[in-house]
Amino acid sequence: MQIEEKPAFATPFEWIGGEDKVRALVERFYDLMDLEPGYAALRAAHGDTLDNARQRLFWFLCGWLGGPSYYTDRFGHPRLRARHMPFTIGIRERDQWLACMDQAMGETGVPEDLRARLKDSFFQTADWMRNRGG
Ligand code: HEM
Repeated sequence: MQIEEKPAFATPFEWIGGEDKVRALVERFYDLMDLEPGYAALRAAHGDTLDNARQRLFWFLCGWLGGPSYYTDRFGHPRLRARHMPFTIGIRERDQWLACMDQAMGETGVPEDLRARLKDSFFQTADWMRNRGG
């Protein structure tokens, strides 16, 4: 039996490589959403520009990964499910979000172990945010 080694980092935020890496991940995520036909339904759920989303997801992820609490300092508790109620989130949107994020993690060099863990956590969150059947 192999004993899993505890990562040498105190938080996923340190493991990913800090703020610059989180920023690069978020930028790539929304660039891909804009570019890839496979994410068109997800892109269509967003407004004309992704600027707000880019800024806010960056703030959110820094705190969610165990780094600076930029998002909650500004907006309080994230209440992500409630904040997403205006948008249709079914299985298709959930799966496009997750695929887009996984592609962005791959392309920005998120370490594979961390990528697998985050993929699981993102799935839990995205699935809980579904607000439409199908
Ligand atoms: C784990 C999955 C997800 C996370 C962590 C996440 C995170 C966020 C965050 C932090 C914001 C900013 C909220 C605010 O302060 O108002 C946001 C906005 C938004 N999210 Fe998500 N989200 C997820 C999944 C989705 C999915 C599946 C959709 C599909 C429709 C979606 C659509 C949007 C839209 C349309 C906005 C508004 C963007 C804007 O203000 O221009 N999100 N999301």
